[in-house]
Order: sequence, then C-alpha cells, then structure tokens
Amino acid sequence: MTTLADSADRYGPVSRALHWGMAALFAVQFLSAAAHWALPRENALRETLWSFHPALGATLFLLVLLRGVWGLANLANRPPHPGRTGRVAVAGHVAIYALMVIVPAVRLLAAAGSTRGLDYFGIQIFAAREVEVAWMQAAAQWHDELGWCLAGLVLGHIAMATLWHRLIQRDGVLERMA
Ligand code: HEM
Ligand code: HEM
Repeated sequence: MTTLADSADRYGPVSRALHWGMAALFAVQFLSAAAHWALPRENALRETLWSFHPALGATLFLLVLLRGVWGLANLANRPPHPGRTGRVAVAGHVAIYALMVIVPAVRLLAAAGSTRGLDYFGIQIFAAREVEVAWMQAAAQWHDELGWCLAGLVLGHIAMATLWHRLIQRDGVLERMA
C-alpha cells in the first residue's frame, strides 16, 4: 500500500497509471467527438471512432469514480499546492473532476430513460423503455456543451503543465506526475 500510495514528493504508481491511462482514453474520446462534429456522416473514420464513443465514455465514467475514491484516500499525502497559484490549480483540478463525472453521467441518464437502452460490451445495462422519460432526456442537452468545456479546460491544463511548469518555472510539477 505504502509504495502504491501518493507521497508529498510525487504521485504514486496508481495515481500516475490512472492519470496517463485516462489521458490517452480522453484523447480518443475527444477525437471521436471532434470527428462527429467536423466530418460528414459517410466518412469511415468518423463512423469507426463514433462506434466507440458510448462504451469508451462509460469506461471513463467508471475510471473517474475509481480515481476519485483513490484520490480521496490519498488526499492527506499528495504533493502540496502552496500559495494563491496553488489554490487556482486545485480549483482547476476540481472543475476537471466535476466535468469528468457530469459529462458522461448526463448521457448515461438519458440512455437509462430512452427507448433504445444501453449495452456495454454486449451486456445490457439499461433495457429499452416503451416510453421515453422526458426529464432524463432533458439532462443530455448539456452533454455536448459541457463536453467541449471539459476539452477546453484540459487544453489549458496541458499548457500549464508543459509550458508554464516545465519550460518557464522549471519547478518539478510535471515531474511529480511523470
Ligand atoms: C467523459 C466521457 C464523454 C465525453 C468527454 C463526451 C464528449 C462528447 C462531445 C464533446 C460531444 C459533442 C459532439 C458533437 O459536437 O458532435 C458528444 C456527443 C455525444 N455523446 Fe458523448 N462524451 C462522453 C461520454 C458519452 C457517453 C457515456 C455516451 C453514451 C452513453 C455518449 C453519447 C453521445 C452521443 C449520443 C452524442 C451525440 C448526441 C448528442 O449531442 O447528445 N457520450 N460527446
Ligand atoms: C499531455 C497531457 C497532460 C499533461 C502533460 C498533464 C500533466 C499533469 C500534471 C503535471 C499534473 C500534476 C499537477 C500538480 O501536481 O499540481 C496533473 C494532474 C492532474 N491532471 Fe493532468 N495532464 C495531462 C492530461 C490530463 C487529462 C487529459 C486530464 C483529464 C481529462 C487530466 C486531469 C488531471 C487532474 C484531475 C489532475 C489532478 C491530480 C489527479 O487527481 O490525478 N490531465 N496533470
């Protein structure tokens, strides 16, 4: 447990595996959304990427819950974020967490209240309903906009980690997650 856990100097192997594994999966998820938005319907790449979007989104939802539990269990022994910039960084991370939960959750809620239901790798998660549940469908209207907000926050996060911390400040913040 001690070697797997985070410490004041750096994030431990579990936190790092979750961070980088999920970063790679989010890259594919944003790519599928961008292709869905930008490419014509008959485009093969768009259709292939889009066929993964619901299952990958549901997987990310499960992973973020796991990561949240692990993060809370390690809260007292994580690398510190001192000063005002530290508080801004923590607020940014909290906003990213909130959107990582809300974005897939509203779409899963809509699937639970739909006439199509939802399968996850061949396992039925939500059966198809005879009649749509209007309030569950309504929640999904925020999915796209909040999904793009998350993409924007992540771009800012990457710029801060690489340009600000690694190239300008050279303060070892990137290294504690690397
Ligand atoms: C963290 C996970 C997810 C992210 C970041 C995400 C992101 C996005 C984005 C940015 C769009 C807009 C694409 C466009 O403008 O054309 C979108 C659309 C969509 N997503 Fe997701 N998504 C996630 C999870 C899910 C899940 C779990 C489902 C299904 C259960 C889903 C189903 C859909 C559908 C059906 C659309 C197109 C229809 C609509 O506009 O609501 N997504 N997603
Ligand atoms: C090239 C891509 C990325 C780089 C270079 C990067 C870099 C980092 C670094 C250096 C930290 C530690 C910051 C600190 O201790 O203050 C961190 C933490 C974090 N990153 Fe990233 N990141 C990337 C992608 C992502 C993505 C795609 C997401 C989410 C969609 C994300 C979400 C987070 C969160 C929530 C934290 C807070 C610590 C945690 O709970 O895991 N990052 N990132």
